[in-house]
Amino acid sequence: MTPVLEVENLVKHFPVRVGVAVKRTVGHVKAVDGVSFTLGKGETLGVVGESGCGKSTLAQVLMRLEPPTSGAVRFHGEDVFGKRGKELKALRRQIQIVLQDPYTSLNPRMTVGDIIGEPFEIHPEVAPKGDRRRKVQDLLDVVGLNPDFIHRYPHQFSGGQRQRIGIARALALRPEVIICDEPVSALDVSIQAQVMNLLGDLQREFGLSYVFIAHDLSVVRHLSDRVAVMYLGKIVEIGTEDEIYTRPSHPYTQALLSAVPVPDPSVRVGRKRIRLTGDVPSPVNPPSGCRFRTRCWKATDICAEEEPALVERSGGHPSACHHAEEQYLLPT
Ligand SMILES: Nc1ncnc2c1ncn2[C@@H]1O[C@H](COP(=O)(O)OP(=O)(O)OP(=O)(O)O)[C@@H](O)[C@H]1O
Ligand code: SF4
Ligand SMILES: [Mg+2]
Repeated sequence: MTPVLEVENLVKHFPVRVGVAVKRTVGHVKAVDGVSFTLGKGETLGVVGESGCGKSTLAQVLMRLEPPTSGAVRFHGEDVFGKRGKELKALRRQIQIVLQDPYTSLNPRMTVGDIIGEPFEIHPEVAPKGDRRRKVQDLLDVVGLNPDFIHRYPHQFSGGQRQRIGIARALALRPEVIICDEPVSALDVSIQAQVMNLLGDLQREFGLSYVFIAHDLSVVRHLSDRVAVMYLGKIVEIGTEDEIYTRPSHPYTQALLSAVPVPDPSVRVGRKRIRLTGDVPSPVNPPSGCRFRTRCWKATDICAEEEPALVERSGGHPSACHHAEEQYLLPT
């Protein structure tokens, strides 16, 4: 079956310009540097990595909010970047985004009804004018908010409720794909679980596919079918939830996982804690060979000379490491 979304060797470089009157380009921020993955119908792909590794840039390019430097994205097999006019408008309906901070992404001077109904102004075919109020109230109900709140303003809601409004707005046009860029990172832990459960319920109800971005491997585990781990603009390991959480083979994934708290003390005792030292290098001048080598305890000469490809290692899942070795770290 053709995947809903296919991303092939996607690159996004931002020029670094200096000078006041005359600007010169002195380099490029390699924010996304050759990312490939597929997303199936009803599937969730978790995308995890430290701050600055290119997650939001990837989301912006997938949404066509930023043009790519190179590479391809296909939606049901059709080239996304080649679309213009009506075709582009139709595509925009199908891929929506939920952002981290619902307060800054919701206009404080608009009522909730206007915020959620705004996409209908651009796509009146989805909801004719006379039918909009009812549609917005249905959406409020679907995300667990009182439909009578339609005339309230964003500041009259809690953080978790505001994120529900952001989700209702993303759902308004009945998209197939929702890109969630850290939708729960700004929320209290107890509220995070509620919003994650809501996203899971909506996925089952509407057959949605999610690209779910987070800093932390523990946040995406529950919802993800597969997980991609990013480091400095590249995917370094990708696999099923089971492969990534119980048999990770890339040292970076192993380090991220060893930092995930484990509630069971008997498991904690035998567990090796890997401490990542040093800062993430600049994406303007990433290290030669393997980008992780400046922080990797397994690095050898080949790691500086040859870039490891993201390929299946010893029959396992794809991992971009010359010395990939599956290591069981957490209980299933
Ligand atoms: N418009 C831009 N112009 C120049 N550089 C940019 C731009 N947007 C992002 N960057 C740079 O690209 C890199 C990736 O940024 P991005 O926001 O995609 O990371 P992220 O993984 O989403 O980080 P975070 O977890 O903090 O949200 C960073 O070095 C950032 O400074
Ligand atoms: S390729 Fe080398 S430096 Fe990179 S993760 Fe593997 S062992 Fe570490
Ligand atoms: Mg981000």
